[in-house]
Amino acid sequence: MIRAKIAGIGHYVPNNVVSNDDLSKHMETSDEWIQERTGIKERRFGTKHEESTTTMGYEASKVALERAGITAEEVDFIIFATLSPDYYFPGCGVLLQRALGITKTEIGALDVRNQCSGFVYALSVADQYIRSGMYKNILVVGAEMHSMGLEFTTRGRGVSVIFGDGAGAAVVQATEEDKGILVSELHSDGTNAEILSLLSPGSHGGVHHDDKEQFGFPDKSTLGGTFITDKMLENGHHFPYMDGKSVFKKAVVKFPEVIKSTLDKIGKTAEDIDLLIPHQANLRISQFIQKVLGLKDEQVFNNIHKYGNTTAASIPIALSEAWEEGKVKEGDTICLAAFGSGFTWGSVIIKW
Ligand code: UT7
Repeated sequence: MIRAKIAGIGHYVPNNVVSNDDLSKHMETSDEWIQERTGIKERRFGTKHEESTTTMGYEASKVALERAGITAEEVDFIIFATLSPDYYFPGCGVLLQRALGITKTEIGALDVRNQCSGFVYALSVADQYIRSGMYKNILVVGAEMHSMGLEFTTRGRGVSVIFGDGAGAAVVQATEEDKGILVSELHSDGTNAEILSLLSPGSHGGVHHDDKEQFGFPDKSTLGGTFITDKMLENGHHFPYMDGKSVFKKAVVKFPEVIKSTLDKIGKTAEDIDLLIPHQANLRISQFIQKVLGLKDEQVFNNIHKYGNTTAASIPIALSEAWEEGKVKEGDTICLAAFGSGFTWGSVIIKW
């Protein structure tokens, strides 16, 4: 039986550390508010115009490849998850392929747009390709350079204090050993899709919550021109929007639900988890999940205090750090779980 194992995991975070006090120089916020509501003490921001989502994904990939003991030429597919791509298009997958110098083999590259659950979705897709025998080595990357697209003002403080930059990568490899991804489960509910969104630029015209008239729509008879308007820029529609409270309420229900049902599929319970790595959205959300599932402190990994919420990168960064700290060992049952914009959520259980 062919299974997909994580043969190498790596991460990269930029050197530039930004504290809560640093942010409070730009907006009305405080270290106390941020730590109390989110658990975040600091985050990393990439160097403007030198680093990008792809360059960070590239750094993380180099580590993952080295730890897997394979070269970039041996990768036969790339899956890249991000909400902060270098370009609107093409996606980061092909940019990473170019950076890694994988040009001769013309392998496929797929971009995943599932925000916070991007890495879990990408891993599940890689698992299916491996199990079907289509590919042997898939490079799965989650990377974000949020700092280029946040509003560092009091208007944007509800969102901008939360996010940080970074990247994680995994070499997902075919194995006939009794290990690897045991099961994954994916979900979505688009009912309130705009509750956590970035609306402009977009073909919808970027307007959802507000009266269309005030956003400078040209006459309907003209061609084009509504992808992004001056009014939308003025109103900050090119920045992420989040109704934090509503997202929080849904997250604390869906996280435990999906973890329980994924475990159930393989006849396991929360007690069997050696390490849960939840998407690092908010320390209070992780603590809530821990409590509902009855997990001990040593069964849950958190690093949000150092990096903030790095969206698609948060799980692979945490997995890589946990592995480096010796908290992910041969034979362990590892549970990855994520919830975010869409809403989309899911969980993957791995026998390491
Ligand atoms: O990763 C993807 C999924 N995302 C999430 O899971 C995020 C889920 N949501 C959250 O983590 C929390 O809702 C937040 C951390 C975003 C916000 O915490 P909250 O406890 O829900 O605060 P709130 O948005 O209800 O705001 C409470 C107060 C408001 O003031 P008033 O109306 O009570 O006077 C805000 O204006 O805090 C104010 N506030 C701030 N104050 C200082 C909002 N942001 C800030 C800030 N600094 N950065």
